[in-house]
Parts: sequence; structure tokens; C-alpha cells
Amino acid sequence: MTSTADLYGDNVGATLATTLYSRATAGERYRIPGWHDDQAREVWERLVEVGRAAGSDPNDLVMTGKSNLAGTVWRSLAMDTRVRQFAADHGETKIQVVSLGVGLCNRASRLADLDASWFGIDRTKVLELRSRLIPEDGTQLIDASVTEPGWIDGVEAGVPTVFVAEGLLMYLTRDDVTQILTDIGRHMSAPARFICDSHHASFIRRPTRSQITRRTGAVYSFGIEDSRHLAALAPGWRAVGDDDTCSPIGVGMKIMSGVFRMLRGGVLYGVNTIELSPR
Ligand SMILES: C[S@@+](CC[C@H](N)C(=O)[O-])C[C@H]1O[C@@H](n2cnc3c(N)ncnc32)[C@H](O)[C@@H]1O
Repeated sequence: MTSTADLYGDNVGATLATTLYSRATAGERYRIPGWHDDQAREVWERLVEVGRAAGSDPNDLVMTGKSNLAGTVWRSLAMDTRVRQFAADHGETKIQVVSLGVGLCNRASRLADLDASWFGIDRTKVLELRSRLIPEDGTQLIDASVTEPGWIDGVEAGVPTVFVAEGLLMYLTRDDVTQILTDIGRHMSAPARFICDSHHASFIRRPTRSQITRRTGAVYSFGIEDSRHLAALAPGWRAVGDDDTCSPIGVGMKIMSGVFRMLRGGVLYGVNTIELSPR
């Protein structure tokens, strides 16, 4: 028998199963317009095969329910759009796209038409799994923790770069996130954009009984009000915008998200985009 740690490294590593499963299945199940990801479906099937052979069925790790599954696809769509915008803004140059906590993310195949170099940062076990499951992928993999010094050294400082942290920041601390933004600000001389998804800070302050914790043991610890609060964590950053990725899920989520915005200000859950001005 294999433990999930052998396949994914740790509890947070095991959360990669749920994001992949959502992108593989939810587009068709919930008829989400504009979502096509055949590679995610293929990689999910490979993960099920490898996981079951190792004694750890990834189906046991995934969240179920429309809000989780469709919500993941809406956030990936919003992030794809924000990456495309940045590429269009810098149309004259090849850009870099750096995925922090890349897991089994296959954004490079969805956005294959962009003139971009792709980088993916994650820990050793996850990268071993990724290389086994997506051998056809040309993403340059960097074996590092984004909370340790040096993770950014392989990124070209003088090339316009989008950093994407999808399904990652909620498992880090506020100090970790501040350090990551500080590291990017110190390293980059070319324009840089940072795109992440986050829960509102007040949601994280309440004791979370999240399904992902029950499934994997991973616990949410970071939340932020909106992109302005995110940009304020480190010098040099400015807010670009927030995408509410709850509202498109359905009428109930739209009402909940609207009421939350009225009562608390900020976004209940969504995608935040900030940019670093060139030095
Ligand atoms: C929910 S998964 C998301 C994976 C991928 N971004 C996606 O959207 O499919 C979280 C990922 O973050 C990675 N991760 C967590 N902490 C990390 C750290 N300190 N440094 C690098 N990767 C980390 C995990 O190993 C896992 O692959």
C-alpha cells in the first residue's frame, strides 16, 4: 500500500487531484461556455490509473458539488483571460508564464497559441508525478518551495512575466505571501503580473470545515479582501482587478456573493490580479 504522501509529498500536494478533476469533468457536466480541455481529461485518467495501482485512488481526494467543481473551472477561465491580456499588452516580446505550485496544471496546452516560455514550480514528489503523467508537456520544471529563498532564480528578470498561483495561496501564511511578492519585486526588472485566487480574509478567520480538509487534510490559512489589499502587502505592486468567480456558478452563488459584497466589501472568492511597475 502507498500513502498519498508517497505520490504527492504531503497533504497540500494531494490537493492537486481536485483541481485536475474539476477541469477534466466540470466543463461538460455544467455546460460551462468556452471551456475545452481534452488534455485535463486524459491526465485525470492517467492519474486514476497510477493512483489506483499505487493503492491511493484520487477519487477519494476530490471535492464534489457544483460550487467546487464549476468554481474551479470559472477561476481557471478567469486566469487564462488575465494571462492572455498580459501577453497581448506585451505582444512584441515573448513572455514567461511561471506557475507557482504547478501540480498537474496544463494551462500551457490551453494557451499553446501564446508566444511564451512556461515554467512550473513545485516540490519533488509532485514534479516526479507530473513528469510521469504529462511527458509531452514542455513546461520547464523547477524543484523548489516558493516559501524558501532561491525559488525565483531560474526566471529571467528582464523578460515580461506572468506569475500564476492557482489553488496555492490559501495554504500559505500571510508572511509567505508577502515574501513571495517581495521576492518577485526584487528580482524582476521587466514588467510582471501576479494572478492568484483567494477567499476573502473574513471567510478564512472563521473555523473552516472545508471539504478539502476532510478529503486531504490540507487546511486553509490565508485570505485577502481584494487585489488592492494584496498589492499593499509588498512594495511596487498595484491592483489591476478582481474577478468574482462565484457568481457565474449559479443563481444561489450569485446572490450569496452579492450579499457578501454589500455587507463586507470585497470578493467572497475570486481571482485577484496585480502588477509590478517596471524599474
Ligand atoms: C491545489 S494544488 C494546485 C495545482 C495547480 N496549480 C492547479 O491549478 O492544478 C496546490 C499545489 O501547490 C503545491 N504547493 C504547495 N505548497 C507549495 C510550496 N511551498 N512550493 C511549491 N509548491 C507548493 C502543491 O504541491 C500542489 O501541487
